[in-house]
Amino acid sequence: MNKEDVIKHLKNLVSQIEYHDNLYYNKDLPEISDAEYDQLRIQNKNLEIEFPDLVLPNSPSNKVGSSLTSTFNKVSHVVPMLSLGNTFTNKEVEEYINKTRRFLKINQNENMEFVAEPKIDGLSATLIYKNGKLILGATRGDGKQGENITDNIKTIEDIPKTLKGKYPEEIEIRGEIFISNSEFERINILRIQNSLPQFANPRNAAAGSVRQLDSKVTASRKLGFFAYSWGLLSSPIGKSLMEVRQNIKNMGFNLNHPVRLCLDLHEMLQFYENIYQNRSNLDFDIDGIVYKLNNLSYYDRLGATGHSPRYAVSHKFPPEVGLTILNDVKFQIGRTGAITPVAELKPLTIGGVRIQRASLHNKDEISRLGIVIGDTVSVKRAGDVIPQVINYIPNLRPKKNREIVFPTNCPSCHSLLKRENNEAIIRCINSGKCNEQIKGQLVHFVSRNAFNIEGLGEKQIIELFDRNIIKEPADIFLINLEMKKDIKEKIIGLSGWGELSLSNLIKSINNAKNQSIDKVIYSLGIRHVGLGTAKIISKNYINSESFIAKVRTLAISNSRENFIEELRQINGLGDKAIFSLIAYFQIHEKKFFNLIKFLNISDLLSMQDDSHYLYGKRIVFTGKFEFLSRTEIKNKSEKVGALISSQISNKTDILVVGLNPGAKYTKAKQLLISIINEDSFLSYFKE
Ligand code: IVH
Repeated sequence: MNKEDVIKHLKNLVSQIEYHDNLYYNKDLPEISDAEYDQLRIQNKNLEIEFPDLVLPNSPSNKVGSSLTSTFNKVSHVVPMLSLGNTFTNKEVEEYINKTRRFLKINQNENMEFVAEPKIDGLSATLIYKNGKLILGATRGDGKQGENITDNIKTIEDIPKTLKGKYPEEIEIRGEIFISNSEFERINILRIQNSLPQFANPRNAAAGSVRQLDSKVTASRKLGFFAYSWGLLSSPIGKSLMEVRQNIKNMGFNLNHPVRLCLDLHEMLQFYENIYQNRSNLDFDIDGIVYKLNNLSYYDRLGATGHSPRYAVSHKFPPEVGLTILNDVKFQIGRTGAITPVAELKPLTIGGVRIQRASLHNKDEISRLGIVIGDTVSVKRAGDVIPQVINYIPNLRPKKNREIVFPTNCPSCHSLLKRENNEAIIRCINSGKCNEQIKGQLVHFVSRNAFNIEGLGEKQIIELFDRNIIKEPADIFLINLEMKKDIKEKIIGLSGWGELSLSNLIKSINNAKNQSIDKVIYSLGIRHVGLGTAKIISKNYINSESFIAKVRTLAISNSRENFIEELRQINGLGDKAIFSLIAYFQIHEKKFFNLIKFLNISDLLSMQDDSHYLYGKRIVFTGKFEFLSRTEIKNKSEKVGALISSQISNKTDILVVGLNPGAKYTKAKQLLISIINEDSFLSYFKE
């Protein structure tokens, strides 16, 4: 590149970055993913390093006002930063409590205390202290990996740099960074005075201040911090949450308030109602109440789902609503072929968020709503949930309106749409050939929880697909240094791509070659096979090769029934997932084998402690258990690598019997399988 080219390129990058900054910070309407945005920043930075004398005066790297550093170092969370399960109604809270009681085997007449506190609408952060000194602050990120924002965090007054009183040698405190409503107003007034666009809402302003602006800007804004949880500790800080709260407070932290220790559902709902009615008196935004068990000894026993711990739940406030016009309805094709009608709305702002689209879910929902194009509709937005159309205002229906016609053929591949077994969803079942579905599958394949290929987002996948460069996952791995010159030129010729972004992409593709088998299965985007199900399947095969071998036999012999039977032995795996998995491999067999040629696939079990007696043992349970609930026993066993089956077969290693065992007991005896009772079984878990 000559000097002119570099300057042209830098100018282009600056204007693109500014454009996307504005959308992200001020409009809350980003058009590109974080990864794509990061690519722009990286390209800019790399060019500046290479040509230091050409750095533009308005370079984003120089700006004090918005020195956005998207190149924060990544930090792995030793204890994952999970999210919270949601409840919306009193009934759902009651069900949550009952389920928790059943799991823990706590009778209705025994107390089960919950601590209730507000759910702050900010962004979560984790702080690590060693010998009382703050050494690291990080964002939540995807829960496993966040970004190191220590410098910015140190400017927050509410966050102690040195702990007071008694504290463990190593302690990780988690909580929410937020901006109070009064500070939010102050910042926006200043921005108006300086002819800068206002921030859309306090959460946005807080996130922008912490994650993207340089520490001087963070320091100039008064951010708050409430501590509400913890990660890694070198020694415990209490037996109950109330005790932990007191201890954390003594160390110098602010806590979520108001708070109430509730003895029953009635007290919890009373607290919820009280805070909901009086929330305008609080100087910070809250979007609900969080209930957490007070007794910490229950936490480990309850464990967590993929997203959230079972010891706590949030009770969300009712959603906010706004009126707008339904301009049109478009039909989207998902990666599993589901056709989703999407309402195109005259843009409106609800709770500081601009909304121009809402899901109409399915054909039945359109009939239920009775809406037509041109109607004035009421739209609700609840937290992060996709906006919903609730109803329409009959008096405002215009004379000139248009019926919503659900297509009979796929808008992409034109094959006839089908509705299976009275399902609400209408699908395109041409999964192997429908371009929109294939694009959706590819976007899923590169997404964060799947192969996590930085630099490839929806926009890039669509472009590369349309230009015949990526047609199936294996094609991604053909993008490498030795790639043919004409393909390289094709990619570089596309907007937003250059030598640098391509070489960054190649790095990220190479990193993605090492994957565990569960990630591989999940990334294929098989209907009904999410991360949890992919894990369950993977854990039940001795190693990844044995699973792949099974898929291979499916292709060469008629072993479908046998594979189904084998999968049916797996506890927690239902027929829907099984049939979907089998159908997937029958249709996409070639694609799958093309892909795995490029990968180094590791086993899932090898990541567990294989010294435990129950590791790799196939276990079946029967009868009623006295000491722990069935779910808890199963969870405990799975944690140490046991394989739980629902049926006895000659592969079963142990049958664990409770009171009144069923027919499994007789069958196990016939097959000479080792039979033990609950008490002896639990002795395997004693330390
Ligand atoms: S407890 C396992 N308590 O809500 C999670 N979270 O929707 C422990 N949040 O990621 C979190 N106020 O960022 C907890 N009082 C509170 C909270 C709170 C806000 C946020 C937090 C979490 C998100 C989940």
